[in-house]
Amino acid sequence: MNLSIFGLGYVGAVSLACLARDGHHVVGVDIDASKLALIAEGKTPVVEEGMVDLMAAVAKSGRVRVTTDAMQAVVDTDISFVCVGTPSATNGSQDQGAVLRLAADLGRGLAKKSGTHVVVFRSTLVPGTVEDVLIPILERESGRKEGVDFHVAFQPEFLREGTSIKDYDHPPFTIAGTRGTAAADALQGLFAHTGAAFVKTSIRAAEMVKYCCNNFHALKITFANETARLCESLGVDPMEVMDLVCRDTQLNISRAYLRPGYAFGGSCLPKDLRATMHMARTRDVEIPMLGAILASNKAHVDLAVGKIVRDGRKRIAMIGLSFKTGTDDLRESPLVTLAEYLVGKGYALAIHDPEVQLSRLLGANRRYIEAQLPHIGDLLRPTLEEVVRDADVIVLGLSHASLSKALAAVVKPEQRLIDLVGLPKDHGLRCLVDGLCW
Ligand SMILES: NC(=O)c1ccc[n+]([C@@H]2O[C@H](COP(=O)([O-])OP(=O)(O)OC[C@H]3O[C@@H](n4cnc5c(N)ncnc54)[C@H](O)[C@@H]3O)[C@@H](O)[C@H]2O)c1
Repeated sequence: MNLSIFGLGYVGAVSLACLARDGHHVVGVDIDASKLALIAEGKTPVVEEGMVDLMAAVAKSGRVRVTTDAMQAVVDTDISFVCVGTPSATNGSQDQGAVLRLAADLGRGLAKKSGTHVVVFRSTLVPGTVEDVLIPILERESGRKEGVDFHVAFQPEFLREGTSIKDYDHPPFTIAGTRGTAAADALQGLFAHTGAAFVKTSIRAAEMVKYCCNNFHALKITFANETARLCESLGVDPMEVMDLVCRDTQLNISRAYLRPGYAFGGSCLPKDLRATMHMARTRDVEIPMLGAILASNKAHVDLAVGKIVRDGRKRIAMIGLSFKTGTDDLRESPLVTLAEYLVGKGYALAIHDPEVQLSRLLGANRRYIEAQLPHIGDLLRPTLEEVVRDADVIVLGLSHASLSKALAAVVKPEQRLIDLVGLPKDHGLRCLVDGLCW
């Protein structure tokens, strides 16, 4: 195919070399003449393993051309990849100057084209930028319509500097954020040979996933480093500990605990985090990321409170009280925290939790209720129907499928349900369902 690549830094130069290697004719565009000169001579503008040989080979093939004329590059090609830099501005926001200027040039190029064209944004962009800012610029400057006369995609780039050719050839997946099928089909044609899963999604989700991946990587590195600092102070080998942590592919290196939901609680996580922070404090070890977890968890409870009390309606039904579905353990349950708040503020609360029946509670659980939530006996109801019947607002804190089914039979259209568990889209509840943050 005839491709154009805008911005020949790490992402653009590696893409140009790999796409030309794969047999495509590629026009490289940059505002930096020195980069263009290097590429024209078959030299690499970035220091990357394998790029010296690859650039020499693709330059020799005659499939690579460079120019500063962005508009002509659009006219001469079928697909344009935008790989310009999106650095930090002084206030931390994303500096989009380069991509905004380029979008105007691309739009003017589109205006000169008779056939259709695909514009693929690969620069990391704040979610919403492509749909709210860049497509309008392209449409305004071209006088054409996205989805009809030209097509736009956002395809996040996952290569890492230092191993970028390898990463380009073996991405974790190829994500095509598009509004129609034309741009996704074009990308599938170009990248199917990598063998990586090809995932179509919305443009906004594709933009966001890039931030999530980078944040997750930063979080993992920081977790390992904070663990190491604490380990050293305790005379423990952090390499050994982190190796063992990584060997657990059920709970640690897995999908476990990565689905958005309500706050965590229970008899282990909060107390062990507090003990971890105490160990660090008494040894003068700074572990600010771990230290922020409980505050973040509390922010999640506060968010739920805000949603529940939002419309001032006073009769609340809480479904669930234990700290997670499938247990009767109430210790540090964030649903208990919610209940305590609502009772304290004078809300009329009724609670149903199939696992928590006062008559069945023994030992630690009974003591916990007596100490933490003495009114619990009055608030617990044995059946779902009883709590839902007179409620204005229903708080769903358990994720039993059978419970949602039973709920569907008893909710009323005028009731509002706060979903803390992430109900499936086809929940079938005939009332207003308000997700916690979804
Ligand atoms: N570097 C990485 O490992 C990596 C990985 C994934 C995603 N990204 C993202 O990809 C984007 C590019 O990153 P990079 O590291 O390759 O950037 P870079 O700074 O190395 O290169 C950007 C290039 O864009 C050029 N440019 C600026 N304005 C231009 C214009 N109007 N027309 C044509 N060229 C123009 C610059 O001269 C420069 O050569 C960024 O959004 C970055 O966040 C980077």
